Amino acid sequence: MQDKESYIHNLFTRIAEKYDLINDVMTGSLHRSWKKTLVEHAAQALRDKTNTRILDLCTGTGDIADLWIADSRVSEIIAIDTCAPMLASGYKKLKKKYQGDPPKLKMLEADALELYYPHEHFDAVTISFGLRNVKDADKCLAEIYRVLKPGGYFACLDLGHPSIPFIDWLYKKVFLKMVPTLGASFAKDKDAYQYLIDSLNTWPSQKTLSEAMYDFGFKRSYYKNIMLGAIGIVVAEK
Ligand SMILES: C[S@@+](CC[C@H](N)C(=O)[O-])C[C@H]1O[C@@H](n2cnc3c(N)ncnc32)[C@H](O)[C@@H]1O
Repeated sequence: MQDKESYIHNLFTRIAEKYDLINDVMTGSLHRSWKKTLVEHAAQALRDKTNTRILDLCTGTGDIADLWIADSRVSEIIAIDTCAPMLASGYKKLKKKYQGDPPKLKMLEADALELYYPHEHFDAVTISFGLRNVKDADKCLAEIYRVLKPGGYFACLDLGHPSIPFIDWLYKKVFLKMVPTLGASFAKDKDAYQYLIDSLNTWPSQKTLSEAMYDFGFKRSYYKNIMLGAIGIVVAEK
């Protein structure tokens, strides 16, 4: 049995080219608006500042980084991922969109668990569908807290657990059951999408994750349900 890190790396290497297409198919493109909401919450950190620095972890194909580009208060976006094929696929997409190198953005192959940045370096840190996939989420959260400036915001978008039992049942026993089949059709990789769904079994609810933020030192934390809690955004202020 491979460890989680190499399993995840191989999984995203296999699906990198099809990743964006499958996200659109599986969510009816709704993931785009969820990602916008994530960035809006994290952008509370920017207030009336200029020249701010953003870190997007587990950036994959760079959707969140792209949203930050549009914010004129941001001068630098560091977007990191351990999977080079995901970064390459994202960079290709953004180069096409911006007809050249995407402005303000550095996409780097690096580990979210060992950030090569000094303490209190970033105004905001975002992570979308990433924290559930890292080998050690606690280590990742400790690193995020370390590199955030005081008053900086962390925002995390991920699958959630609906609090209404019937909706939770419908989501997990009906909707999520279809995901591996869609993965098999569009990415020819049922196992990859089976893993992504199974990983929800050990993933905390957005409420639990939000409460845990205080243990990492954050002074304020809240969560927002999307799609009746099937998707959750957790926001924390340092
Ligand atoms: C589901 S994708 C999310 C991509 C993108 N953020 C999005 O929302 O579409 C998860 C990403 O996490 C990356 N990842 C997993 N562990 C990582 C780590 N320790 N450091 C950086 N990236 C990691 C994977 O390579 C993959 O690209």
